Amino acid sequence: MEAVLRRSIGLVPLPPHPPARASNGTVARLNFTQTHWQSWQFSVCAPVVALASFSSRSSRVARGRCRVHAAASNKTVANKLSLPPGKPGNAFLDLLKYVKDPDGFIATQVKNYGPVFQMNYFGRKTVIVGGADGVLGFTSAEKEITKSALPDTFSQLHTAYGTMNQAGKIHKSSRVNLISAALCEEAFDAFLPVIRRRCVDFLDSLESRGTFFPAQEFKDWSVALFAELFTGIPFDDEMKRLLYTYNEGLYGLVPLKLPFTAFGRGFKAKDELVKRLRKQIEDLKRTGQIEEPQYAALRRLMKSKDENGEPWSMDHVATSAMIMVWGAYVELASLLADAIYLTASYPEVREKAFAEASGAPAATQSELKKLRYLQGILDETLRVKPPSGGGFRLAEEDLEIAGYRIPKGFVVSADPRITNMDPELHPDPLSFNPDRFVECPATSLPKGTWFPGGIGLHGCPGIPLAMLISKVFLADFVQRFKNWQPTSASKGKEGWVTIPIRILGDKYEMEVTKR
Ligand code: HEM
Repeated sequence: MEAVLRRSIGLVPLPPHPPARASNGTVARLNFTQTHWQSWQFSVCAPVVALASFSSRSSRVARGRCRVHAAASNKTVANKLSLPPGKPGNAFLDLLKYVKDPDGFIATQVKNYGPVFQMNYFGRKTVIVGGADGVLGFTSAEKEITKSALPDTFSQLHTAYGTMNQAGKIHKSSRVNLISAALCEEAFDAFLPVIRRRCVDFLDSLESRGTFFPAQEFKDWSVALFAELFTGIPFDDEMKRLLYTYNEGLYGLVPLKLPFTAFGRGFKAKDELVKRLRKQIEDLKRTGQIEEPQYAALRRLMKSKDENGEPWSMDHVATSAMIMVWGAYVELASLLADAIYLTASYPEVREKAFAEASGAPAATQSELKKLRYLQGILDETLRVKPPSGGGFRLAEEDLEIAGYRIPKGFVVSADPRITNMDPELHPDPLSFNPDRFVECPATSLPKGTWFPGGIGLHGCPGIPLAMLISKVFLADFVQRFKNWQPTSASKGKEGWVTIPIRILGDKYEMEVTKR
């Protein structure tokens, strides 16, 4: 395995991103107000400083001479190795620091200990793995860490049908079913007209209002869109409310099913939402309406079979559809809101995006793929404002990753934020520079250094759809508006939500100026 990994790394071209240049040839830097700058500095400067300290290690990777320590199934070997550096601190204090500034917390750890380190996360001994060596070690060790290490409240509400709770054959079969129902290019062809119509509706409304609350409105818009794409069933206000209550329950800290706990309310909301979806699906079947084109993805989902070849029950179908909508909406809202937020400060980025979008057709997937500058904006947004870290797995065996021993029972997470800010890979990493991804697309970055949706067996299957929707949206947005900025009341008041998904606060408002 080690030889295979070494070979694969040797074959990968490892070009770092070229220095960040704005269209006028100057180095593009974030052009924030003082308050923006302070919050930016707090969350992003620290990672850069910290990452410089391990960039010499990364540069070994970049020259194709990295040492990859594949998973050791041999416990005797692993036992001779030392634990990753780091001092898991007080669980509560660590959590507070992390919640206040996730990037800064991770960066300080990287600065002190390097890209693979121990920390205390939600009271559990956790090893964060970053840098190509560590991340490739993580993916090769995955057989021993497919079991998710999600908090109890999350796990219970995610249900046995949720892929993040699954492992082995059951997990593989669920992924195949979900991808072939709704997350493949064939499905996207049918989704495109719906995406386009919903973008136009949103932008018509925005044009008439002139101001909007990006985070709040993108969340609502995303729920409505994904419900239509995945189920064909529009979620009414009550169904949306149930989904949001379910979402809050997933992150409830008290795992007691009581009417006054977020967890208890989440459970009730989930049961009610699944009941409503089941009823609607059964009605569609009974009346024959299910054969209509808007239910194509739902029909495919209903043809799913489990790992033993048994058809999915109606409960399975309805629960999976609900989880799909839930799994997609905040992440998409975060990406869209951050793309609009970041580009607000860069007139030259907006004009380049406009030139590309207005100069090329964007009706089909292949035409959309040619919009490389818009792709650059989205990738750069995910790099500087990643919606989340990686997924959490449980080490079911003693493991060896990047030359360290990870004892059985530890939680392990491969974190994309560490390489996102590596100056060896992304020179001048503080700058927001979509051109870096035009000159060197994300697909040509070294293996294990770019994974905005997590990596490995549970890596996000929805990123291509999120990109497709965001590109259609952005192409329309830049053609419709020439300028956008926070309203004077919102300047410097981003109110970032940092966990579980980073997103602007609901009250952050922006205004747009029509072209
Ligand atoms: C920018 C947008 C998105 C980001 C940043 C993102 C991020 C992530 C991350 C970090 C994970 C955990 C990976 C892991 O455990 O290693 C994940 C899993 C997942 N995501 Fe996404 N996601 C996005 C959009 C979507 C969309 C649009 C869907 C559509 C349904 C989706 C569906 C899923 C599913 C089903 C999983 C679980 C996969 C599994 O357990 O095998 N995501 N995503």
